[in-house]
Amino acid sequence: MSRGLDSAVHLVQQFLSCTAQSGGTFVDATAGRGNDTLFMARLAGPDGRVFSFDIQEDALQSTRLLLEDAGMADRVTLVKDSHEHMERYVSGPVDRVIFNLGYLPGGEHSFITKADSTVPALQSALGLLRPGGRIGLVLYTGHPGGREEYEAVEKISAGLDNALFSVIKIVILNRAATAPVVIVIEKAGVK
Ligand SMILES: C[S@@+](CC[C@H](N)C(=O)[O-])C[C@H]1O[C@@H](n2cnc3c(N)ncnc32)[C@H](O)[C@@H]1O
Repeated sequence: MSRGLDSAVHLVQQFLSCTAQSGGTFVDATAGRGNDTLFMARLAGPDGRVFSFDIQEDALQSTRLLLEDAGMADRVTLVKDSHEHMERYVSGPVDRVIFNLGYLPGGEHSFITKADSTVPALQSALGLLRPGGRIGLVLYTGHPGGREEYEAVEKISAGLDNALFSVIKIVILNRAATAPVVIVIEKAGVK
């Protein structure tokens, strides 16, 4: 995997890790193969807590194995439910949330993330976020429904009150128009 400017996931992780402090609450809204959950578990440290959501058992099993191999399974709660229900499992305040959207690499494409559930999940994450907290999203537009999901997330993000939130979008300019896009939202205030 690229670790440079051409990797949207690497970019979002950079924005989530800088200024993060261990010991808080972290959320991976889409566990997938567990790479972002492992990243969050490292940020959380031994005294922090990570909640990692996915609707596919296949994804949660991959994530569980990755965490066990890294010796970090004990700091992560794996949740088999849609991220739109995150408030049922996570009580704020939350330090960092990552949404790496789309479908499970090497998995069933019918379990793709969709605007209908991504939008309420983002709204829940915004409500749970602590002052100084950040939400990072990686959005893919090349598959059916991807552009609609991206446009819905962009509309909410762009409409956030700029006294309460700062929002940036990163587009990789010299790649195809369908290259992944990164959005990072920061809540005002110091942790
Ligand atoms: C691009 S993958 C995530 C990649 C992952 N973070 C990693 O590090 O490998 C997207 C994941 O979102 C999951 N997903 C789809 N709809 C969901 C929903 N409503 N709630 C939670 N997860 C969902 C899919 O099952 C898939 O595993």
